[in-house]
Amino acid sequence: MYSDTNKKLTRPVTLSKLRKMKQEQEKFTCLTSYDATFTGAMNAASIETILIGDSLGMVVQGQDSTLPVSIEDMCYHIAAVKRGNDNAFLLADMPFMSYSKPEQALDNAAKLMQAGAHMVKLEGGSWLKDTIGLLTERGIPVCAHLGLTPQAVHKLGGYKVQGKDEATAALLLKESLELEAAGTDILLYECIPSELGKTLTEAVNIPTIGIGAGPHTDGQVLVMHDMLGVTQGRKPRFVKNFLTDGRSIQEAFEAFSDEVKSGTFPAPEHGF
Ligand code: KIV
Repeated sequence: MYSDTNKKLTRPVTLSKLRKMKQEQEKFTCLTSYDATFTGAMNAASIETILIGDSLGMVVQGQDSTLPVSIEDMCYHIAAVKRGNDNAFLLADMPFMSYSKPEQALDNAAKLMQAGAHMVKLEGGSWLKDTIGLLTERGIPVCAHLGLTPQAVHKLGGYKVQGKDEATAALLLKESLELEAAGTDILLYECIPSELGKTLTEAVNIPTIGIGAGPHTDGQVLVMHDMLGVTQGRKPRFVKNFLTDGRSIQEAFEAFSDEVKSGTFPAPEHGF
């Protein structure tokens, strides 16, 4: 049973704190969580940001992609994480097709925020400008997810590295700047070359988070089941199992934090 005797983050992590960490070149951590108990262990390990990812479709529900996840599923897991959370900043995914039009996005983002999210995350590029403008004007912080966007897996033809050639890398830079100008608060990059992760992080003034995007992004995220080594089947190259050497789960979270902060994770072999 989760006990809150051990929580370490003494003050709530806010967007201003994450911006300051970027300015001061201090790395921040992010892990996915879907329930109260693991969230408590992440708090105890001082993980600054927690993502209630629609990856829950795959790692919790056993679906073969994130596409079947609903707004109701997201609200259920956000509420559970919120109940277990003390001071971490909570990002929540807007599920597939819940933000295809700006007004629809506003209604659905409001549901996630009311369930307990501090920020919503949307997958996509320049087509999201109006939606992000509307959400952020209404006081809803937004993280935009670029690069490999799992909700578009069938369009992308699989879970493949993005931005490998000059044209697609330039498009990612253009879209990042446009989304920043539209009001985006955080950019998350998945599966892009490490050098591109560096270029993009240096090009924007807002914090960036990477997964398979090299060591230069301001924050690093992993899916909890992956970093605890419990995901079955082929592991993506960017995954590292931290539940080794007889560590407890909380110690695995702490090891992830230590390695992100010291710059030892991700190592070159985790990048593209
Ligand atoms: O849903 C999720 O867990 C994510 C991460 C892969 C970043 O979006």
